[in-house]
Amino acid sequence: MNNQKRNLKVSAPGKIILSGEHAVVHGYPALLTAVNLRLSIKNEVIHSDIPVGGGMGSSAAYAVAKSAYKQAEKGEVWDLEKINKEAYEIEKRQHGNPSGGDNTVSTYGGFLWYRKESENLKVFTKLKTPKSMPRFLIINTGKPNESTGEMIAFVKTRLQAKKREIESTFRNIEQVTKSLLEYLVEGKNYDLKELIKENEELLEDLGVVSKKAKEIIKLVEGAGGGAKVSGAGGIKDGSGVILAYHANMDKLIKVSRAKKLNTFSVKLGQEGVRLERV
Ligand code: PMV
Repeated sequence: MNNQKRNLKVSAPGKIILSGEHAVVHGYPALLTAVNLRLSIKNEVIHSDIPVGGGMGSSAAYAVAKSAYKQAEKGEVWDLEKINKEAYEIEKRQHGNPSGGDNTVSTYGGFLWYRKESENLKVFTKLKTPKSMPRFLIINTGKPNESTGEMIAFVKTRLQAKKREIESTFRNIEQVTKSLLEYLVEGKNYDLKELIKENEELLEDLGVVSKKAKEIIKLVEGAGGGAKVSGAGGIKDGSGVILAYHANMDKLIKVSRAKKLNTFSVKLGQEGVRLERV
């Protein structure tokens, strides 16, 4: 291995989905943002701060970092489109039918409006940094028993069995996603807590939230806040991470401590895949 290769290090961020998970697999929009937890590859030893299987895009960050590493190793021009395309192929092998949103936000970073129109047409726009950055507390409800691929397949089966009902849920999710976009980009006066709560109810209608996660969400609501699953969710055990919001964050932190919940904070709108100086 020459020196240049030995010093090669790339990193890619994890993400949270603010709104639109699952619906995005079926052509509806999603709002995603890259966070300040990253996965890095150096000399093929992997280091990651992103919780695995928790809805924070650890597998997508790996796919993006891996394809970027390969590109840099070959000495090719740094090409985000190519990195993203290859990462999507890796994600497909892993999850069957992903939307491609996770790898796209991990590649480009920031806040992303994303929609998969068809297999070969995925559109996204990088949004301006919101005027007032929403502050969330991330609560880990526990690792799901089910993989992302299994959760995607579960929702597909529900869609086939109850087409009208599930499509209506997807349309309602789209409304929430659009309202959230207007809140973030246009500064429209929506009640963020209510949007989060509405989003959660719709995810519960899809059936992707476990009993364990629902109980934690009820605690947040009981303290005057709102919370939603972010990512694929989970049914039998944990549902991965939830985004919890409260106008008075201290109150939420106090309740979480009292109940010994596993919490952490993240910075939103972070940089996408990058070459690191070593
Ligand atoms: O739980 P994660 O980080 O794998 O996120 C999955 C998000 C889904 O919308 C459920 C699937 C997808 O491909 O968009």
